[in-house]
Formats: sequence, C-alpha cells, structure tokens
Amino acid sequence: MKNKTIVLLLLLLIFACNTYKNLPTSSTDTDWIYEEIPATPQAVNGDVERGFEYISSGNYVGTGAPYGLVEKRFAKYQDTLLNRAGDNFHLPYSQTVFEAENGAKITTGTCFSCHAGRIDGEFIAGLGDNKGDFRRNLGIFALGINVMTKLKYRKRSEEREVFQPYGKLLRKGMKYIVTPNPMVNPAFRLEEGYACFRDPVDLKYAGKKQYDMPDYVLASDVPPLWHVKKKNALYYNGMGRGDFRKQFMQASLAGVRDTVQAREILNNFEDVLAWMHSLEAPKYPKSIDADMAERGQAVFQEHCTRCHGYYGEEEDYPNKLISLEKVGTDPFYAQYFMRNDGLSDWYNASWYANSAPYSKHEPKAGYVAPPLDGIWATAPYLHNASVPTLEDLLNSKQRPKYWKRVWDSRAYDYEKMGWQYESVDKPKGKYVYDTTLQGYGNQGHTFGDELEGDERVALIEYLKTL
Ligand code: HEC
Ligand code: HEC
Repeated sequence: MKNKTIVLLLLLLIFACNTYKNLPTSSTDTDWIYEEIPATPQAVNGDVERGFEYISSGNYVGTGAPYGLVEKRFAKYQDTLLNRAGDNFHLPYSQTVFEAENGAKITTGTCFSCHAGRIDGEFIAGLGDNKGDFRRNLGIFALGINVMTKLKYRKRSEEREVFQPYGKLLRKGMKYIVTPNPMVNPAFRLEEGYACFRDPVDLKYAGKKQYDMPDYVLASDVPPLWHVKKKNALYYNGMGRGDFRKQFMQASLAGVRDTVQAREILNNFEDVLAWMHSLEAPKYPKSIDADMAERGQAVFQEHCTRCHGYYGEEEDYPNKLISLEKVGTDPFYAQYFMRNDGLSDWYNASWYANSAPYSKHEPKAGYVAPPLDGIWATAPYLHNASVPTLEDLLNSKQRPKYWKRVWDSRAYDYEKMGWQYESVDKPKGKYVYDTTLQGYGNQGHTFGDELEGDERVALIEYLKTL
C-alpha cells in the first residue's frame, strides 16, 4: 500500500448507510434575491498558539487506526512542515497520533488532511487541499487495514476496542464517498455518515441508522480558512449558523464517546477559532501593475462590490447569501440540503443545537458571495471547483467543458490566475474534470461577461492585491 493511500484511509473512518432515497430533480422555488446574514457573537478569547497545536495534533476525531500498523513504515519520515515533536515528528502533516482513553495509541487524519495544501510549491496551513482525488473506491485498502489489525492485535486489545466500531464499516462505507470528478471533496458526505450512527442527544454510538441517506455523493471544493473571521455563516450555502466552535467539531462525530467528551473538545475549539482568526490570506508572490490595479478597483466597485464587499482601508464585507436564481451557478449542492433533511434535522435536534453555545443548520436555496481575500491562491473556482482560472470565471464563454490539470502545485498560471490546464474533447483519462455531470456544471456567475476592452485585465490585476 502506498503511504498516500494509507494517509487517506486513516482519515476516512467511515460508516455505512444502506438505504437510499433518490433525489427529486425539480428546482426549488424562491422569490428572493439575497439575504443579509446576521452576525452571531463568537468566542474570540482563545489562545492562537494552543489553537494551532490542537488543530494539528489534538485528539478531536476520537478514533482511528492503531499506530502500530504504520509506525515502522513512517519511522524514517520527518515532519519538516509543522515541526511537531514526539511520534508526530514521524507522521505527515495531515496525521496525528493520540492516546485513546483506554491507553491505545491511535493515528488519524486531522483537519489539515483537507485544510492545508500547496500553491506554487509553498505549503499553507488553512488553504483548501486542491489535489484531493476521491474517485477510487478504497474498499479493498480498508479491508487491508482491518485484516492487518486483526493479525497484529488480540481480540480484546485496546487497539481493537477503539478501531472496531468503525473498522468493520470502513470497507462497506468507502463506496459512498467515491466522487465522479477529481479535486472535489466529499466532507459533508462523511459528516452525513458519521451523524447517521449517533444518538443526537447523548452523541453515543447508536448502532443503527438515524435517517436515510440519498444515493448521491455530494462533494465540493475546500474553502480557505482565512475567510472564517469575516463570515457570519459557514459553508457554501451559509447553513452553518450560530456558534462556530460547534460547527468546527462535526468531525468529532467519527469517534466521540459522549457529550462529556464532546464538551472537552469544544473548549479546545475556542483556541482553534482564535488561530483561524489570526490567519491572513497569502500575498500574491509576483509583481503587480499598480496603475492597472487601480483601474481594476474601479471596475470591481462598479460590478462586484455589492456582493463581495470592499477591501483595503475601507474594508467591509456584506455577508450576503445570493439566491440560486440570481447567481445562476450549479444549484445542486444547495438543493441537496434543502431536499435531504436527514443531517440538518439530526443536527438541529442534537447536542450541537440544543445546548449552549447554540448552533444550527439552516439550509438555504442560495450561495454565499464569499470574501475574495487571497483569491489568487484558491483555484479552482466556484463551490464545485468547476472553473480552473479567474479569467475563465470572469468570461463564462471561455470556461472549458472538460479540463485537465497538471497535478503539481507549481503548475500555476499567473496570467489567467489559476491552474494550468488543458481543454480536452472527451471526459476521458486521468484527472479530467467533467462539467456536464450532475452537480458539477460551470454555468452562472456571469457578472464578468459584461466587461469591455481591458476592464477584465484590470480587474484581474486588482484581484491580485486582495
Ligand atoms: C474530509 C475533508 C475535511 C476535513 C477532514 C475537514 N474539513 Fe472543513 N471543510 C471541508 C469541505 C469540503 C468544506 C466545504 C463544505 C461547505 O462549505 O459546504 C469545509 C468547510 C469548513 C469550514 C467552513 C468554511 C467557510 O468558509 O464556510 C470550516 C470553518 C471548516 N471546514 C473547518 C474544519 C475543521 C476545524 C476541521 C477539523 C476538525 C475540518 N474542517 C475538517 C473539508 C474538510
Ligand atoms: C449578485 C452577487 C454577485 C456579484 C455581482 C458578483 N458575485 Fe462573485 N460570487 C457570488 C456568489 C454567490 C458566489 C459563489 C457562487 C458559487 O460558488 O456557486 C461568487 C463567487 C465568486 C468567485 C469564486 C470564489 C471562489 O472561491 O471560488 C469569484 C472569484 C468572484 N465571485 C468574483 C467576482 C467578481 C470579480 C465580480 C465582479 C465582476 C463578482 N464576483 C460579482 C456573487 C456575486
């Protein structure tokens, strides 16, 4: 097994939800254009350094594979990116080792499995991973981990006690997170699976399904974490309302024991929130034509500010959720949560929603107009990662139907601003993104189409400064 595959598997400690409802296909009616999302006071007194330590090394997932299975394999590996100490010195930045309550040493993926990545070779914690590829069914590898655990550890061992409830579902669960396109991440699908086997009130492992899951693997781009400090609601459809610490700890449903342990984790997430608030968007690394950028700023304020806000000295982010009709981008992601209320009903009936600090899921038929800080670094664009560059985003006729990216963070296109890619005729071959698939369309957001002359070039120059 390749190390990369193991890393992926350790993260995907899954579930199996066996009954499926088909998705209705009709569109959701709305007669609104946008909503101004109201602010909720957040706990901002955490400790930045402790927050970073916790997010990169803490035990908030609660379950994982026995560390003994990979210890030898990673013995020579050195974590030079996060420079962590102890066992973590020998693990990739996306993994952590922790001691479970019964004393077993367990390893699992951290938030950085998805929320860290590289741009032009530079590692950035908080950047969404842009090289994920969940198109393969890893069931066979999951079986491998199960077999290895059984061979190495006694039946009543601490390691098997921690691993077992998930391990036995791991193999079956893998096929429910296989995405049809590369680069998109099925995080909410994982969440749907985790919550599905938890009692909402005491968060204990329920052993039986709490709701049916639809037969569609929902996946999206991974957003950068430096936007969190500007946002009044989380997620592309703005459904993450109320206290953000609670929203952050949804991954804990993988292995949390009960609400007592959940509360301990919650307290640490106050520090994680402080760390997130300390993040700044990475600066554009090349030179910027200041005159051109100034002209671009005027274009931006005429065409874009009403949704995306002001930047620089007069910074003001309006926190608007734009209706699906108005923005016109692929509606499927937002509609999924409107039609399939299993996860949001569970969430709103759970400890997350009904104990202080309160939070809730409020799915809406729209998408948040996101902050554009560091936008140069977060290609591909739109919630479904369907558009490879900013130039294509701002000229809808130019967007490729099938495109193939070079799988290297250094293959960055500084002219079009985004990933170097090749347009291909057919959705065939490795790493080809197919925009004709349900949920992965590249339509809509045509606000850049009306630009004339060199307005678009100037606008892009300005976007580099954000
Ligand atoms: C399996 C990959 C994965 C893991 C692990 C993961 N996330 Fe995410 N995260 C995502 C994806 C994908 C989204 C986008 C979902 C959406 O907005 O609808 C997201 C969204 C978010 C957002 C909302 C950002 C915004 O601008 O609205 C926050 C905050 C966040 N994650 C924090 C965390 C934290 C903290 C952890 C660890 C406890 C974590 N995530 C673990 C993939 C992941
Ligand atoms: C009517 C509101 C509205 C206007 C006007 C608007 N946008 Fe957007 N923008 C949105 C929404 C909503 C999204 C998210 C759509 C999605 O992900 O499906 C978005 C997404 C984007 C993204 C992609 C963000 C990402 O991380 O993937 C960029 C870049 C962007 N807009 C730039 C612009 C620029 C530049 C203009 C001006 C020419 C503009 N927008 C005008 C609402 C708007």
